[in-house]
Amino acid sequence: MKLNFFEFITVNSPIRKFVQNKIEIKSFLDVPNYVKDGKVLEIGCGSGYGARLINKYFKPKEIYGIDLDEKMIALTKKNKLPNVSFEVGNVTKLDFKDRSLDGVFIFVVLHHVVNWKKALDEIYRVLKKGGQFFIEDGSFETFSTPIGRLIKTFTDHPYDSMYKRHEFFNYLEKLGFKTIKKQVYKPLALTSRFVYIGIKK
Ligand SMILES: C[S@@+](CC[C@H](N)C(=O)[O-])C[C@H]1O[C@@H](n2cnc3c(N)ncnc32)[C@H](O)[C@@H]1O
Repeated sequence: MKLNFFEFITVNSPIRKFVQNKIEIKSFLDVPNYVKDGKVLEIGCGSGYGARLINKYFKPKEIYGIDLDEKMIALTKKNKLPNVSFEVGNVTKLDFKDRSLDGVFIFVVLHHVVNWKKALDEIYRVLKKGGQFFIEDGSFETFSTPIGRLIKTFTDHPYDSMYKRHEFFNYLEKLGFKTIKKQVYKPLALTSRFVYIGIKK
């Protein structure tokens, strides 16, 4: 689902960029990089700042960024780079061929997606064998932490269908990902987020 007004503003704020740059991308860097010189997709790219970070740290040949919200895609112009393209797209129906991508990246998106299993099916489908999947996100548990409860008051999320962490990890294993990193972070017990990095077997 698209973000409401308040979350749209928050996601496009300098604070969000700071967190993505100083914390989130860093938690993807302690595993081998199998996407260098490859084709990668960033799902839910927002204004395109994440693609800029992926470019800097992972050095793929090409990056495709997609987002459900055309207003976000309009903002990506300021993050345009020669090897990066952005388009409107939906993670539950990816416009990419089977086994065509070396990597897929996601920063805080799938907790917004009602049919998250279909999204993971699609990600698995478009990755090549040996392709690398990087995701960091919140989960159902996040919204009962102090910060999560606060976020709940000004944002809209599909809580009835939102995954619990164990459901999410189990589904990835069922699909056939080999886990190379699975970690839950609970800074000062104020919030929680997870990082998962897997390889398509
Ligand atoms: C919380 S924002 C995160 C944006 C960016 N990844 C970041 O880390 O700042 C979630 C993004 O996912 C997008 N989104 C939500 N549902 C989506 C879907 N089904 N397919 C693609 N993008 C989606 C939203 O429009 C929004 O830009």
